[in-house]
Amino acid sequence: MCGIVGYIGNRDAKPVLMEGLKKLEYRGYDSAGVAILSTDTINIVKSKGRLGVLEEKLCNVDIEGTMGIGHTRWATHGEPSDLNSHPHVSKNGKIAIVHNGIIENYIQIKDFLSEKGYCFSSETDTEVIAHLIEYNYEGNLVKAVLKTLNELEGAYALGVLSVDNPDMFVAAKKDSPLIVGLGENENFIASDIPAILPYTREVLILEDKEVACISGGKVEIYNLLGERQRREIFHVDWDVCASEKNGFEHFMIKEIFEEPSAVKATISPRIRGREIVLDNFTITDEMIKNCEKIHIIACGTAYHAGVVGKYAIEKLARIPAEAEVASEFRYRDPIVNEKHLTIVISQSGETIDTLMAMREAKRKGSRTLAIVNVVGSSIAREADDVLYTWAGPEIAVASTKAYNTQLSALYLAALSFARRKGLLDEKEYNSYINQLQQMPEMISSILGEREKIQKFASEHFNAKSIFYIGRGLDFALSMEGSLKLKEISYIHSEAYAGGELKHGTIALIEEGTLVVCSLTQEQLFEKMIGNIREVKARGAVVLAVAHEKNTEKVAKIADSVISIPDTDSILAPIAAITPMQLFAYYVAVIKGNDVDKPRNLAKSVTVE
Ligand code: G6P
Repeated sequence: MCGIVGYIGNRDAKPVLMEGLKKLEYRGYDSAGVAILSTDTINIVKSKGRLGVLEEKLCNVDIEGTMGIGHTRWATHGEPSDLNSHPHVSKNGKIAIVHNGIIENYIQIKDFLSEKGYCFSSETDTEVIAHLIEYNYEGNLVKAVLKTLNELEGAYALGVLSVDNPDMFVAAKKDSPLIVGLGENENFIASDIPAILPYTREVLILEDKEVACISGGKVEIYNLLGERQRREIFHVDWDVCASEKNGFEHFMIKEIFEEPSAVKATISPRIRGREIVLDNFTITDEMIKNCEKIHIIACGTAYHAGVVGKYAIEKLARIPAEAEVASEFRYRDPIVNEKHLTIVISQSGETIDTLMAMREAKRKGSRTLAIVNVVGSSIAREADDVLYTWAGPEIAVASTKAYNTQLSALYLAALSFARRKGLLDEKEYNSYINQLQQMPEMISSILGEREKIQKFASEHFNAKSIFYIGRGLDFALSMEGSLKLKEISYIHSEAYAGGELKHGTIALIEEGTLVVCSLTQEQLFEKMIGNIREVKARGAVVLAVAHEKNTEKVAKIADSVISIPDTDSILAPIAAITPMQLFAYYVAVIKGNDVDKPRNLAKSVTVE
């Protein structure tokens, strides 16, 4: 949600900021802007629309300067417009800021500042920060920012520069991500690592309620009391190419094609011999045996992975499990205690609702296990144990490879818990391990079916509404298939439990309605065939996803069948999601949509 960058050094700041913003555009893209300090003026250029619009505007102005801050916005307070775009400037024009997050007490601050004669030109919560820093400024920018932050409630990642301080700028963070990139006589800030990777791999990760004073030669970190903080340097070792398209038309299709290697990277290092070794887990066998309940908390696609996790954990480890969206969990005073384990799932590791829900569970005494993709992210740092999904950077807003790897991590945890509780016999356990190891190949073989899926998409891209149905794990899978379609194709879609459709929603099925049916759950196969007959009888067109061994049978009633390699029902979702992702992708491409940056969405949601 909003991307921010900052630069100080010897280079021309403009291209550094623009290149950085391009890498962060996935975080929000309804407007963008930069502030660059030249001698004694802050030059601000900002604009509604994608980064391209800002880039054009910048071509027509002559701005030079070696320090600047930039922003790409996902609107929360105030519509996307030139005026509401960041950076925002203080009354005297001497301080400029960029902000990611929401200031909850901005109305009170606005009233206070209005009484002091400050006027506001935007509808944003951010503008109050710029004015308040000016109000608190007594010659020391760091002190003014510290004083201001102590008066703010809410979330922020901030970049602040001032005319009176041409050799430094200030950054701060609370509940929104921000990293500092360390170069040679140059330093950077960014909401995410790819923005600084062309220049440096040495990074400082700011903690909540910290302020950094950044000059070309050094970075000093303070807490909100103004005390100096020490920080280890974090070395980024992943490949820059991982955040490039590498010849693919979109990041989304590139990332779908990376699923086999991502799943392999998540599974392989954790299976040693036949044993599952879960990193440096501190959860003991005793804790697992005594665990009374597992809460699985996440948002969006990660939540859908959690629903699969609930089925898998209950089935394999026989521990009662609930999957819940984080924004609901955190406000309903959930019953959680020290005999519970809370698993939080997040690609970014920064989703604010997930982070807050995890804190709530911790506060109530639960142990926490995070399944996270971004190393060093807030959720990863705060959880008791972390299981990284080694998917590499995921740039497309619609999550794909992260989902398969989240499932892989959940299965590893479920199998490990089951094994430690002595619930699986050797044969069963070995069979699951073998199949998990074969998952990358299975996904590759599904990718080989892409033309068939593309053809099907070309026949149905005009659909007004598409239903996804399945039973058991196939229902969980359907939820994610349907979300993918909605996100990027803008076609209305709903996921229904196969047996539930007839209790109302079947009224919406009419001649030609497309229904995507998953049949990977062996024990529910005949039931699903029955559900397919019900929708076919009302004129539906059916696309089925079924195991190879059942293809012939399913083809007799479905209009089209995508076969996936045979696997145990319980593990099926890891590979069975891939055809649904491909279907959503091709529908969106055929419709001419901006696949990687769908309307109204952002990849990392750091506001509630
Ligand atoms: C946003 C993204 C989704 C993602 C969700 C959770 O809504 O658009 O793709 O699934 O956030 O993100 P997380 O980083 O916590 O997995």
